[in-house]
Amino acid sequence: MNDKQLESILHEERLFPPAAAFSSEARIDESRLAALHAEAEADHEAYWARMARELLTWDKDFTVTLDESEAPNYRWFTDGELNVSRQCLDVHLDERGDKTAIIFEGEGGDKRRLSYRELTADVCRFANAMKARGIEAGDRVVIYMPMVPEAVVAMQACARIGAIHSVVFGGFSANSLRDRIQDAGAKMVITADGGHRGGQIVELKEATDRAVEQGCDTIETVIVLRRADSGCQMQDGRDIWWADAIAGQSNQCAAVPLNAEHPLFLLYTSGSTGKPKGIQHSSAGYLLHAKLTNLWVFDLHEDDVFWCTADVGWITGHTYVAYGPLAAGATIVMYEGAPTYPDAGRFWSICQRHGVTIFYTAPTAIRALMKFGDEVPAQYDLSKLRLLGTVGEPINPEAWIWYHEVIGEERCPIVDTWWQTETGGIMISPLPGAMATKPGSCTRALPGIAVDIVDEAGDSVTEPNAGGYLVIRKPWPSMLRTIWGDNDRYIETYWERFQNRFYVAGDSTHRDADGYFWIMGRIDDVLNVSGHRLGTMEVESALVAHPSVVEAAVVGRPHEVKGEALFAYVVPRGDRPTGEAMEALTRELRNWVGEELGAIAKPDDIRFADNLPKTRSGKIMRRLLRAIARGEEITQDTSTLENPAILDQLSGKA
Ligand code: WT7
Repeated sequence: MNDKQLESILHEERLFPPAAAFSSEARIDESRLAALHAEAEADHEAYWARMARELLTWDKDFTVTLDESEAPNYRWFTDGELNVSRQCLDVHLDERGDKTAIIFEGEGGDKRRLSYRELTADVCRFANAMKARGIEAGDRVVIYMPMVPEAVVAMQACARIGAIHSVVFGGFSANSLRDRIQDAGAKMVITADGGHRGGQIVELKEATDRAVEQGCDTIETVIVLRRADSGCQMQDGRDIWWADAIAGQSNQCAAVPLNAEHPLFLLYTSGSTGKPKGIQHSSAGYLLHAKLTNLWVFDLHEDDVFWCTADVGWITGHTYVAYGPLAAGATIVMYEGAPTYPDAGRFWSICQRHGVTIFYTAPTAIRALMKFGDEVPAQYDLSKLRLLGTVGEPINPEAWIWYHEVIGEERCPIVDTWWQTETGGIMISPLPGAMATKPGSCTRALPGIAVDIVDEAGDSVTEPNAGGYLVIRKPWPSMLRTIWGDNDRYIETYWERFQNRFYVAGDSTHRDADGYFWIMGRIDDVLNVSGHRLGTMEVESALVAHPSVVEAAVVGRPHEVKGEALFAYVVPRGDRPTGEAMEALTRELRNWVGEELGAIAKPDDIRFADNLPKTRSGKIMRRLLRAIARGEEITQDTSTLENPAILDQLSGKA
């Protein structure tokens, strides 16, 4: 966030109280919220135990609520047993078996509806197909799919038999897929021939082949959904079409009771080193929070149509597409393609045609659509919408107000939800019928979520508007359990900074005089590009892997739509290219990073220099590079620079 944005946020004083009509129908109103906070504060464990028993159906009840014996590896409901897929499907069959679970729309306009009964049968058939291919509880299965119902079927089928899924976003490259398969030691990949995005076909199977060929010896089977008819290659013995895999399989498959702590999934996310972390989540604690927040934060009622636009490749698509809403028995919308295909009205057209009542998206999408003007949404009937949500990065007040006025027609509360891959579900957010919102603030922590701000010494920051580290003081059920295969990194990353006393989120934050939180951004070398986390180190490692690159440093700069954009400084091998040669190398490096990591990691700017600015002790002066990338006045002391002449090259003046 730049200083201007920061200033505008700090001067934001508008208050939007919920309408009486909304509050009176809301699941949680002001007095209920106060009672829940009081209950959780009085007895944190008892509060969560009550929620776990009321919201989940246990095959075997638990006697231990919170096990702290291996803190900070906390465990919840440790001797309880349940099955996540049963909680999302079977439990609904009597009451709402014919209710629509998924309304699907492909980018090309193809549509499908799946009732809870049909979805359950599909999940069972697919789970049986996985078992027939030797998948057992505890095996890792990588899912690399477009946003189609089969992606949810595959995830739920894993949950049903206790296989641990690791969904890899379809926009990631073959190399990223390979790294994740290898780290997880996966036995199976579930993919599609291709998916549709922005009028193009994303060749998922082709990327899978390239990934698996590069030393993924653990892979035994690749199941391929026919989606794009793009004519992919099938390898005998290893590959099987989805349709052939489920042919003849029974539509019944027992949902085996699993321990509450059984890992439900791994999801890789960027950190401050070059290697993504496999965030490991549990079964019961995760599902509890997914269901609870879907009900409360989104004030979900039986006849709502809930649309979370996130891809299942991100945590938002896990918690608020594949698990939370299904556990809550909701009707969800799934859309395969790009928000602007064939035009910028696509999201609003989907809202109108499918009667969406609750819409949840990212600030970057709001800003991108806002640029097309108010006339676009004005062409659609958005009167069914009653609640809006945002997630992924701080929302600038301008975008918030546009969302409120133009999309919500000043009728819909906005829930700005702060959370992370690691937290499993929403942590700080308004409850829409219970509190007033402020544009740009995610407001307050949910009951049972002990959020605080601390200073360098780990002391609570109580003074209004003073900044500090965002921490979570008490364990919560949906917290990550570890980093797959690297528990030391788990402790180092989230706990060691303050001697394991509390979870360190990695964000810097302020709290205003009303106790509302304002997230200011990351404190580590992690950027937030279009609401997705990207480690600068990952992009740097990708760049230096290119034969023409000697050294690279990557920083962020503010970007109108993406929030942050990547700015790379590169020291080339040999002479610094100019003119056409420079343009050619820039293109080549951008594509290279796209191949190494995925399109979202392509730097927006690349600047070549003979060397990078370093202190005498050899540390890259990142603050200086950031200032240059933002076009700011250089205030740093540059006298210690080994080579002060480099400044002109870095600034693009030489
Ligand atoms: C980081 C987590 C949780 C799903 C999407 C991103 C930032 C997230 C907000 C918000 C301000 C936010 C934080 C956080 N962030 N939501 N409402 N306001 N910042 O998940 O990739 O794990 O990234 O996103 O910096 O630490 P993620």
